[in-house]
Amino acid sequence: MNTESLFDLTGKVAVVTGGGDGIGRGSCEILAAAGASVVVSDISLEKAQQVADGIVGAGGKAVAVACNVLLEDDLTNLIDSAVKAFGTVNILVNNAGMGGGGRENPFSIDRAYVERIYAINVFAPWQLSKLAAPHMQKSGYGSIVNITSMSSVNNSPSMAIYGSSKAALNHMASNLAFDYGPMGIRVNNVGPGATRTHALSTVLTPEIEARMLAHTPIHRLGEVSDIAGAVLYFASPVSAWVSGQTLMVNGGGVQTLD
Ligand SMILES: NC(=O)c1ccc[n+]([C@@H]2O[C@H](COP(=O)([O-])OP(=O)(O)OC[C@H]3O[C@@H](n4cnc5c(N)ncnc54)[C@H](O)[C@@H]3O)[C@@H](O)[C@H]2O)c1
Repeated sequence: MNTESLFDLTGKVAVVTGGGDGIGRGSCEILAAAGASVVVSDISLEKAQQVADGIVGAGGKAVAVACNVLLEDDLTNLIDSAVKAFGTVNILVNNAGMGGGGRENPFSIDRAYVERIYAINVFAPWQLSKLAAPHMQKSGYGSIVNITSMSSVNNSPSMAIYGSSKAALNHMASNLAFDYGPMGIRVNNVGPGATRTHALSTVLTPEIEARMLAHTPIHRLGEVSDIAGAVLYFASPVSAWVSGQTLMVNGGGVQTLD
């Protein structure tokens, strides 16, 4: 058996949102290492360009596209740009996300905040999936991977909007798997536990980290590469009969901020 071919993405085209940093960046890099042509998108074109340049410098294929997933025109432009650059879209990683961090006091946040969090965490993945699906169907290979969160199943204070938006993402994927399956498209989620990125660094203190580790059997916080490995699994042929699933990547434990 040739195990390498199970993870081989040569000839496949991957689009990643929020690809300029953290989990998005790690996803771009691992998909490119597996042979995919990667469209690195981010609200910051500069960051996306740096990641794309790094991939090309290492011998891979990548382009950078500016995309604020809160803007509908940017979503359309992202898929159009991918098709223009590489001919199709086979893999979509809906990674850009926002909210949480224990900052969502339900009595002080307003409706505009709630709408923004749902727009980035739920609406954008839904819209990009819809835009990418015809290309995936036509090409004969489609895999959508959403980055959800352990917060979609955890309960903790001041996390209701982020947590519920990521729970909506989980359930949206498991339902879309029914709609997209007959088109040859799989839809799955990766749910990171606390993972060392810029976003986590804005809330992590030594005390919080110690409490998290007390409930984490694999006694460390996550690294971007831990999450990227799960993205590669869902993106590649090794998971050809896996759809509608959410895989929590969390060291076997539960990390909450309280
Ligand atoms: N880091 C964690 O502990 C953790 C845990 C659970 C889930 N997640 C999820 O992982 C995903 C990535 O988080 P991260 O920790 O890697 O973040 P990060 O802060 O390291 O990187 C986020 C990237 O997204 C970009 N971005 C921000 N707003 C954007 C927008 N509107 N449109 C497009 N790009 C935008 C930023 O420029 C940045 O490059 C998010 O969906 C987050 O909810 C992270």
